[in-house]
Amino acid sequence: METLGNQTFQAYMVRKDEEGFRAGLEQITLADLPEADVTIQVEYSSVNYKDGLASTEGGKVVRGYPVIPGIDLAGTVIDSSDSRFKKGDKVLATGYELGVKHFGGYSPYAKVPGDWLVPLPEGLTTKEAMAIGTAGFTAAMSVESLLRTGINQDSGPVLVAGASGGVGSMAISILSELGFEVIASTGKKEQEQELLQKLGATEVITREEAYAKGKGPLSAERFAGVVDPVGGKMLEVVLGSVKYGGGVALSGMTGGYQFESSVIPFILRGVQLIGIDSVYCPAERRTQLWKHLGREWKPKSALQMGVNEVSLEQLPDTLSRILEGKAVGRTVVKLS
Ligand SMILES: NC(=O)c1ccc[n+]([C@@H]2O[C@H](COP(=O)([O-])OP(=O)(O)OC[C@H]3O[C@@H](n4cnc5c(N)ncnc54)[C@H](OP(=O)(O)O)[C@@H]3O)[C@@H](O)[C@H]2O)c1
Repeated sequence: METLGNQTFQAYMVRKDEEGFRAGLEQITLADLPEADVTIQVEYSSVNYKDGLASTEGGKVVRGYPVIPGIDLAGTVIDSSDSRFKKGDKVLATGYELGVKHFGGYSPYAKVPGDWLVPLPEGLTTKEAMAIGTAGFTAAMSVESLLRTGINQDSGPVLVAGASGGVGSMAISILSELGFEVIASTGKKEQEQELLQKLGATEVITREEAYAKGKGPLSAERFAGVVDPVGGKMLEVVLGSVKYGGGVALSGMTGGYQFESSVIPFILRGVQLIGIDSVYCPAERRTQLWKHLGREWKPKSALQMGVNEVSLEQLPDTLSRILEGKAVGRTVVKLS
């Protein structure tokens, strides 16, 4: 710590003040980071849809300026006043107020409350943990929620919507690792559809095919469960295709935040609509799920083929692409 002194380093900062809104790289020092229990040398962060929103003026996710976005980070503790963490420990953090109120991962150093930290689980490097990141953690929460409805590998296929995105691609990988039949729904063209099969999807359908199936409140029972990071119209149509007693794990809204439905799928088929929130997931469930992600739930296919790596300099372009719905797979940001 002392050796860092007033040494400057580059970070991606978003400001909104009397001079207007601006986002870009700045030189800062450790003293510019708001105080917190644990100081981390960040090795990797990741790029999520929410980070894209945080980098734009109308994104509505930032809860205080200035802020360094980056809702995920992983690295090594270099200083700690929290007895649970000591210098040299490998840790990760996702969610809470990281990158939207509290300075986040797009900086080679971060100061983070100890309560938000998870020890890096066995079986994962810091780069793998960030390739998984909030998206993979959300996928894991979704899968766990569907398993809690009682479904298993013999119950039938699980639909993954928004399949080429971060949550979707990680969900395909985890589900196929666990031996589930996975149907992937995507708006992307053939090249990406092939990629989804390599990730572990047994069948790939277009978004239009998925929408076309949903006429009326109930259609044929097809899916044992659904991982839905899309919402909107997708949610409307999939609710009617879930098999008796199955569930939809809803985490996102890239397809819209409003949807119309009826009580029919719930009262005639006992379908469960399960909300997924990764941000304030309690510490015990969080730590347990990360342990799974380092072991039997490790999304090996996604880690092997779907991870892009960018530098801080390449970050602005990458953030624009994710907002345009053009991102494929996960992107990690290398910090140090
Ligand atoms: N609840 C939580 O804790 C939590 C955590 C993480 C993320 N999220 C939310 O989950 C969503 C997905 O996040 P992500 O990181 O996976 O984002 P992402 O990487 O951008 O993936 C989103 C995917 O949704 C599909 N999509 C995009 N625009 C669409 C549209 N207009 N209609 C239908 N589908 C569309 C695309 O997949 P295809 O082209 O393959 O269809 C896209 O790749 C976001 O809304 C995010 O805020 C929530």
